[in-house]
Amino acid sequence: MNKKESFVIQGLSGEKTLNGSVYINGAKNAALKAMAASILFEGKVILENMPDTNDVDTMANILSGLGAKISKNTNPNGRGCIFEINTDTINSTDIDKILAQGMRASIVLTGPLLSRFGSVSFPSPGGCVIGNRPIDLFVNGYKKMGAKDIIDNDVYKFTAKNGLNGTNIFFNIQTVGGTETLMMAGVLAHGTTILKNCAMEPEIVSIAEWLNSCGAHIDGIGTTTMIIHGTSGKLLKPKNKYFTLPDRIEAGSYLLLGAICADNIEIKNCVPSHLEAVTNLLIESGVPINVIGESTIKISNNSKIKNSSLKSFNVRTHEYPGFPTDLQSQVVSFLTQVSGESMIFETIFEGRFKFAEDLIRLGANITIMNSREILIKGPSSLSALPDDELLFAHDIRAGFAIVMAALIGKGQFKVSNVHLIDRGYEKLEQRLSSLGANIVRIND
Ligand code: EPZ
Repeated sequence: MNKKESFVIQGLSGEKTLNGSVYINGAKNAALKAMAASILFEGKVILENMPDTNDVDTMANILSGLGAKISKNTNPNGRGCIFEINTDTINSTDIDKILAQGMRASIVLTGPLLSRFGSVSFPSPGGCVIGNRPIDLFVNGYKKMGAKDIIDNDVYKFTAKNGLNGTNIFFNIQTVGGTETLMMAGVLAHGTTILKNCAMEPEIVSIAEWLNSCGAHIDGIGTTTMIIHGTSGKLLKPKNKYFTLPDRIEAGSYLLLGAICADNIEIKNCVPSHLEAVTNLLIESGVPINVIGESTIKISNNSKIKNSSLKSFNVRTHEYPGFPTDLQSQVVSFLTQVSGESMIFETIFEGRFKFAEDLIRLGANITIMNSREILIKGPSSLSALPDDELLFAHDIRAGFAIVMAALIGKGQFKVSNVHLIDRGYEKLEQRLSSLGANIVRIND
C-alpha cells in the first residue's frame, strides 16, 4: 500500500487561467481486462499504450502471484507503459485475497482462469466504495456454464474439471465486468455462449476485437447480444499486440475541469465520439468546445465566458452511450459553478454521493435528496477548509472531482488519500502543473 500522501492545491478563485494540452492515456478499464485476457493465450502477449497507474500494477502483481511471467517497460514517448505477459507458467488459480480486495477488476480474472485451468478461487472483490458491488451475475453465469461452486468463509471456489460449457445467459442488469468476464469464459468453452443484455462500453468492444484478431470467434460485438463460439480449450495465439484505446473517462475528466478552469485547453489522443453524452451537454450549457479531427477536443477563448453565464442541466447516468457514471462526480463539481438548478440521477451505483457532502462543506449549494438523487443550485463559491478539517479522495473519480473543486475555489486546499486518485489517473499533479495549476504532492 502506498504511503499516505496528499495534494496541496492553490485555488484559482474562479479564474480560468489554465492553458495547454493534455495527452490522454490508455483506458484503465480496458487495460486491466486485456491483462486478464492474456490468460486465454498460449505464449507471450504484448500490451501497448497501457496507463502507468496503481491498478495496472496491482493486476500485474496478482498475475505474477499466480505464476505468470510479466515484464513492464515505459513507453518510448514517456507516457504510459508496455507489458509483456506469458501466462503459460501459471501454477495456481487462487487469486490473492488482499490484492483482489483492493480492486474490483480482479474479478475479471476468474472467467479466463476457470475456463483455461478448470478451477478458480477468489474473494468478494473490493475496489471503489461506491455502493454494494455484488457478484451474483458472475456466480450464476459460471453455474450455468457447468461449474461447481463451494463457498467457504468469504472465498468463492469454482471448479470445471472438463472446462466450461456454452449456454444462454441473460444479464438482469447490464454489467461491464460481467459482460467482459463471461465473454472471456465463453472463448475457451465447449460450444456456443449467448450473452444477452450485455454492456456495450468501448472498452468491451476493444478487447473483443483484439481477441477475434487472435483466433476467438465473437459475434455481436458492440451490441447487447454477443454470441461466443468456444474453442473447446484451444488457446488463442498472440498474433496481434493489444493497443489500449484512449481513456474516455480520463478525457472527460480533463474536459470538465478545463471547461471551468481553463482559457485554452486541448484534450489530445482521445476519441471524441466516445464522449458525445458529455460534450453535447457542455456545448448546450455554453462551453466553447470544438472537436478537431479524429482525436482532439479543444476549448478556446474560455476565460472571457463567466462560469455564472453557463446554463445548468440535468444528468441521468446511464450505461454507454449514455452519460457515464464515472464522470458523475466531476460534472457535479462543474455544475456548482453554473447558474440555475441541476438534478443528478445516479442510476448505476447507490453510494456515489459521498464527495457531495465535501462539496457542501466547501460552500456548494447541494441538497442530497436520497442515495441516487441530488439537487445542485449554482453558482456558489467554494472556499478552503480550516487547516484542521480534512478533505479526502473517497474513490478514483470523486478524488478527481475534489481536485476540480479545489482548483475552482479560493484559498489553499489539502486533499488526502491521493493513492486512490493514482489508481486511475497517471501523474495527475504533473499534468495539472503543466497546465499552470499550483498543485504539489506531499507526504502526510
Ligand atoms: C465497471 O465496474 C468499471 N470498473 C467502473 O469504473 C464503472 O463505474 C462501471 O463499470 C459502470 O460503468 C472497471 O471496469 C474496472 P458493473 P463494474 O458490473 O464492472 C451491478 C472506475 O472509476 N452488478 O457494470 O464493477 C452493480 O452493483 C470504476 O473506473 C450486480 O448487481 O460495474 C452496478 O449497480 C468505478 N451484480 C451495476 O451492476 C453483479 O454481479 C453495474 O455494475 C455485477 C454488477
